[in-house]
Amino acid sequence: MTGDPARPGPGLGRTGAAARRWAELQSGRGIPPEILAGAPADPWTHDPRDFRAPDVAADTPSRDAALELLDGAGTVLDVGCGGGDAAFALLGPLTRVTGADQQADMLDVFAAGARERGVACATVHGRWPDVAARAGAADVVVCHHVLHNVVDLAPFLGALTAAARRGVVVEMLPEHPLAWLDPLWARFHDLHRPPSATHRDAIAVLGELGVVPQVRHWQRARRHPHDPAWVTRRLCLPPERSGEVDAALAEIPMRGRDAVTLLWHT
Ligand SMILES: C[S@@+](CC[C@H](N)C(=O)[O-])C[C@H]1O[C@@H](n2cnc3c(N)ncnc32)[C@H](O)[C@@H]1O
Repeated sequence: MTGDPARPGPGLGRTGAAARRWAELQSGRGIPPEILAGAPADPWTHDPRDFRAPDVAADTPSRDAALELLDGAGTVLDVGCGGGDAAFALLGPLTRVTGADQQADMLDVFAAGARERGVACATVHGRWPDVAARAGAADVVVCHHVLHNVVDLAPFLGALTAAARRGVVVEMLPEHPLAWLDPLWARFHDLHRPPSATHRDAIAVLGELGVVPQVRHWQRARRHPHDPAWVTRRLCLPPERSGEVDAALAEIPMRGRDAVTLLWHT
């Protein structure tokens, strides 16, 4: 995955204690090179087919927060847009959308989604915040399920704030989306991971930037399935071990449904 937390972006320089803690916890979630070297397939890259925005948007606190900021009409910048789940939930008030993503094939899905919905759209390929100048400003900036891909969080969040004329909505899980697989890293690779960075750590980094977000806790309606083939690839194991992975999955707690929305005005 291009969002490998073991590969920090340039400019890891903000030195607040919360930003340093976030970077440390995130760096601890990388895959050691000796395990990565034996991986038969890239364990990181997201499959754009998994990120198509649904035809009928879910009614979530993140959507509500962005609709509040749009207040009837406005432009949106979706950072780490994937297939556009966050932005396309705002159809109606959404007058124009820009999707920024470091994965080009995600932007293809995003642009197709905008065409199907008749929304004026631009795409920006590259890594946030490096591409912030190219993305420009929007009334509302949304960023869903990207923070746990980032090591150097302060400049990332600072650029979200700078790009928003009205406000920013971040959606994230309370801990790293793959933290539920930690027992399997221990089982299959004897790799014992440090605890995950949490939404509270992200809020602390925002605090160091002078931002106090509104925080909304909620539960996602749908639990992501435990697909053994997907988990096997994530664990850097060959496909023929997916039976073993399937059996091991049955012994660990189900993936959680808790989600958090952070909203701040700019
Ligand atoms: C888990 S997906 C979420 C996609 C979408 N926001 C959603 O909620 O369905 C994370 C997306 O963020 C992108 N991404 C991760 N880090 C990024 C960065 N620093 N700059 C731009 N895109 C990034 C990935 O390529 C991927 O498409």
